[in-house]
Amino acid sequence: MNIPRKAIGASALSAALLIAGLLATGFVARAHAETPVQAEAAAQADEQTIHWTRAAVAAPANAPRGFAEYHNACTVCHGPMPERPGTRALAAKYQGTIPALLEERTDLQPEFIRMIVRNGISLMPMFRKTELSDAQLDAIVAYLTRPRS
Ligand code: HEC
Repeated sequence: MNIPRKAIGASALSAALLIAGLLATGFVARAHAETPVQAEAAAQADEQTIHWTRAAVAAPANAPRGFAEYHNACTVCHGPMPERPGTRALAAKYQGTIPALLEERTDLQPEFIRMIVRNGISLMPMFRKTELSDAQLDAIVAYLTRPRS
């Protein structure tokens, strides 16, 4: 069959436009799909062990749930005195009436911990869900409210 060049050119062009149009629509649809994008970010955050310690802390055998998450995210400021700003601030706030180390407290309520971690307070920054996922925060809450004998 002898198809004129001009006709091939025109149909190739319209096919290209059609494909470009489909891609553009798909792209726009994906760009607006905020929930899957956020879900993916949260899933990635869960896979990573964030740590603000010099090296990531791994939970020793038989460590309570949340040990590693707490130490990786919180002890940079809430570790033992004297140089930790969180411990220092809480020592000044409570004047020895309760432990300055969060880990030693038995009065912490889950909702109080969540509110402080997601909003920050004074020197303490807020933790975004991309930095500390809800699953990691749940583990930290479990650790700080663990039953003690
Ligand atoms: C950059 C330092 C820093 C980091 C990191 C940090 N904190 Fe804090 N945190 C502070 C400081 C400072 C205070 C005291 C604020 C004040 O003066 O009331 C505080 C206070 C708190 C309090 C309030 C205690 C009370 O009785 O008033 C809680 C709960 C807390 N932090 C939990 C956490 C947890 C859980 C993490 C880890 C996810 C964490 N913090 C990480 C600095 C930090």
